[in-house]
Amino acid sequence: RARVGVLISGRGSNMAALLYASRLPDCPYDIVLVASNDPEAAGLTLATAEGVPTFAHAHKGMKRVEFDALIDEQLRAADVEFVALAGYMRLLSPEFIDKWAGRIVNIHPSLLPRYKGLDTHARALDAGDRAVGCSVHVVTAELDDGPVLRQIEVAVLPGDTAETLAARVLIAEHQLYPRALADYVMRDSTPEAKLARVREIALALPGAE
Ligand code: GAR
Repeated sequence: RARVGVLISGRGSNMAALLYASRLPDCPYDIVLVASNDPEAAGLTLATAEGVPTFAHAHKGMKRVEFDALIDEQLRAADVEFVALAGYMRLLSPEFIDKWAGRIVNIHPSLLPRYKGLDTHARALDAGDRAVGCSVHVVTAELDDGPVLRQIEVAVLPGDTAETLAARVLIAEHQLYPRALADYVMRDSTPEAKLARVREIALALPGAE
């Protein structure tokens, strides 16, 4: 299984979705580290309770590149192969992104390329959009700009506010992220490796001998 490190800044519900999906027998990745730029992030408590190693360090007072070097060191020490950003609310340095090029993915609460950055739902409502959604994309040097891997669209209901929309889109995020990450970690596998994986899954299914 691919070794994934998750970076969070807060609640960590997407991290939890990735983690619980990884406990299904057909999941091709394991969450081996959860790291945060905020030692108070609620998601760290959950990760610890679930037996996942964590690392937390406040970024305050550190240069971006120095802080990212610290995170990089932790990821390497844990033999991480892919990095999943899950509500990580801090820009990554170009140096970090270069080192992990093609191996960082992010979840964003909009139908990219629309509404990069913050306040996505409020902006969609202001624009009168009838649908919003979430996207998983590969992280590149530009904010929320890398190739989109998968999206889920969510209808706007009469009376929706930014808060009600955020809550409903979050349900979609929890469905989207584990699937998109699973596909991504398998993308470079040879046909033989993919076949072996399918066989492994079949053998893990209930009733298989
Ligand atoms: C999620 O809605 C995620 O899409 C968003 O922050 C929330 C984190 O929630 N991410 C961004 O806005 C990134 N620019 P979580 O901590 O419960 O996963």
